[in-house]
Amino acid sequence: MSQKGIRGVRGMNDILPPESLLWNEFESLVHSWAAAYGYRPLRTPIVEQTALFKRAIGEVTDIVEKEMYAFEDALNGEHLTLRPEGTAGCVRAAIEHNLLHQGPKRLYYWGPMFRHERPQKGRYRQFHQIGVEALGFADPEIDAELIVMGARLWDDLGITDVRLEINSLGDPEERAAHREALVAYFTAHQDELDEDSRRRLSRNPLRILDSKNPAMQPLIEEAPRLLDYLGAETRAHFDAVLALIEAAGIPYRINPRLVRGLDYYNRTVFEWVTPKLGAQGTICAGGRYDGLFAQLGGKPAPAAGFALGVERVLALWEACGGEPPQPELDVYLVHQGEGSAPAAFRLAEALRSSGFSVIVHAGGGSFKSQMKRADASGAEVAVILGESELASETATVKPLRRPGAQRQVPWTQLEEVVAHIQLGSEESDGVGTLA
Ligand code: HAM
Repeated sequence: MSQKGIRGVRGMNDILPPESLLWNEFESLVHSWAAAYGYRPLRTPIVEQTALFKRAIGEVTDIVEKEMYAFEDALNGEHLTLRPEGTAGCVRAAIEHNLLHQGPKRLYYWGPMFRHERPQKGRYRQFHQIGVEALGFADPEIDAELIVMGARLWDDLGITDVRLEINSLGDPEERAAHREALVAYFTAHQDELDEDSRRRLSRNPLRILDSKNPAMQPLIEEAPRLLDYLGAETRAHFDAVLALIEAAGIPYRINPRLVRGLDYYNRTVFEWVTPKLGAQGTICAGGRYDGLFAQLGGKPAPAAGFALGVERVLALWEACGGEPPQPELDVYLVHQGEGSAPAAFRLAEALRSSGFSVIVHAGGGSFKSQMKRADASGAEVAVILGESELASETATVKPLRRPGAQRQVPWTQLEEVVAHIQLGSEESDGVGTLA
């Protein structure tokens, strides 16, 4: 009976070499970028209580209504969810460990997130985010800092063709006034609403503005604008953010329709968008969420942050010329004959202790077939250990990428000879010309 192979889960990707090398390079770049702004890493679990996301993101959002990987723990009946985003867990951890005890905190995280969306290019069910959260900061400087950080990252990556859209969602009272105006407006046009919007009208009318339905767009265009309902303080906050990013030389477009798909935001919200990635052009998004600490049962604390979609940023990076780095390998160690394996292991470890990367051939085979592997491996140097070398405690060293004769050297000189070949200076000072 034939058995069908088991495949990966739809919308959840394997990241293979050489692509995975681009991920590694990006990840290390991100760590130094975050450190350059004084942000420290935070790691939270991938699974949280379902109630956390319901409370933080909002019950009437696409994420909570239809995209959460929520399940009941078969062992103890707990209601758990694979995190669809990182802000909720970050704030939960900050409250639980009293992280703001000694003042505000700049934090960042990296990892997989899960949303049961319809997979397509740039949209996955397991995707990755880098999130940056500034906790305990009320001033517009921090909103601007987060935007400047984004701009620097695009710059560091050589990413062009990305623009900033920004809006202010106001404070709760302003939103309430705007909400009332919206409800009145959409109620007056009820027969023009699609089914989703009609359902949202009573529960979350702001989200109607987020509708992707083209038929709804003319109606949405004419709807009352939140920006017209901002009070003096909120307006001043927004203006200060805009002035700071202008001073930093970052172009932006105020988009009064930018509402975001999560309910915790207030005041500044922003998105970095590119026309280069088709429909999934938002590579990064965030904003202020001053009410979330209190909403999750913590001491009230203002905060702001953003998250970028790693898959999307990497796709854009590649579209702008980013390439996986060539993996480097110094030595491929070929060995054959009785007792060659332990010696090969020992020599390889000695080379690694000196900082070289070494592959020890595995799986036997003739010298010829082993040398073929050595060539294909991309190594700079082949180190060959046969019976005669073993007997004389030597190894044959053969440059693979540069001209130069092979030579037999004592084990004690191996590191030195490999280093010389790598520097392209093997003809100098007679090192390794023994035998
Ligand atoms: P978000 O807008 O839901 O915000 O997601 C942020 C970014 O994650 C998006 O702009 C996009 O690049 C990427 N993303 C989202 N869903 C997918 C998907 N299914 N496949 C691929 N990429 C995706 C948040 O998650 C907030 N927690 C951001 C934040 C942090 N706000 C304040 N702090």
